Amino acid sequence: MTFTDQVAIVTGGSRGIGQAICQVLAERGAKVIATARNAERVSAWAGDTPSVEDRIIPTSLDVTDREAVARVIDETATTHGKIDILVNNAGITRDGLLMSMEDDQFDDVVNTNLRAAFWTSRAVCRHMVRARHGRIINITSVSGLMGNPGQVNYSAAKAGLVGMTKSLAKEVAKRGVTCNAVAPGFIATDMTEVLPQKYQEQVKALIPMQRMGTAREVAEMVAFLASDGASYITGQVFVVDGGLYT
Ligand code: NAI
Repeated sequence: MTFTDQVAIVTGGSRGIGQAICQVLAERGAKVIATARNAERVSAWAGDTPSVEDRIIPTSLDVTDREAVARVIDETATTHGKIDILVNNAGITRDGLLMSMEDDQFDDVVNTNLRAAFWTSRAVCRHMVRARHGRIINITSVSGLMGNPGQVNYSAAKAGLVGMTKSLAKEVAKRGVTCNAVAPGFIATDMTEVLPQKYQEQVKALIPMQRMGTAREVAEMVAFLASDGASYITGQVFVVDGGLYT
């Protein structure tokens, strides 16, 4: 699997799963526009990874800024001539039970996890459809498939992303563009590290593999879906969860 001469854009590339996705794609030859709210955070890890540093292009982008999304994507297409791969990875949680959930808690999570993917996908599709080639990969969650108490906002956004994936896949299939989703289960990143230790142990006990996944294990699935080997796969959701949601 090689991405030589391919151009990828990854959102939320400063750490965790997004960082691992940037690394895997760059290791296999892609030029990766690694976006994050603060590009310096990307530069920091890229500087520690000499094997891929020259293929990582740290770029500032807050995905909730609609104008910035359009600008960064259009500049990327102009500078590099094309965009082959888009990974919508940026995401946040603001957990709480529905009865006490504030409007902004719901809106922030939907804006970052769902609305932003609409903006990025709309912007890249124009370039991909013209090129008759493209791969869009949305990072959803098992929470969007099975529900999770305390995550009405997050589950709704991630389930929305699944619907968006399937509809967009059907819209662009005949133009050579695929759109798939990856649904991680319980992955060891900053997002899950903040959860109480007791809760982490309870969730691990429910996972048939009895452990959390690694960011790299999610990134490998993303890389496959971005590759030529996945050319006949579109509109699907791939669960990477150690058997949790079966
Ligand atoms: P993380 O919190 O370590 O990373 C999230 C990334 O998104 C960070 O780089 C953060 O800066 C970025 N981000 C957040 N808001 C942003 C914005 N407005 N603009 C640009 N970037 C923004 O979390 P993790 O675990 O790496 O999550 C990555 C994706 O995987 C998210 O979409 C998350 O919902 C999803 N996921 C994670 C799971 C886990 O267990 N860690 C499970 C299922 C899904």
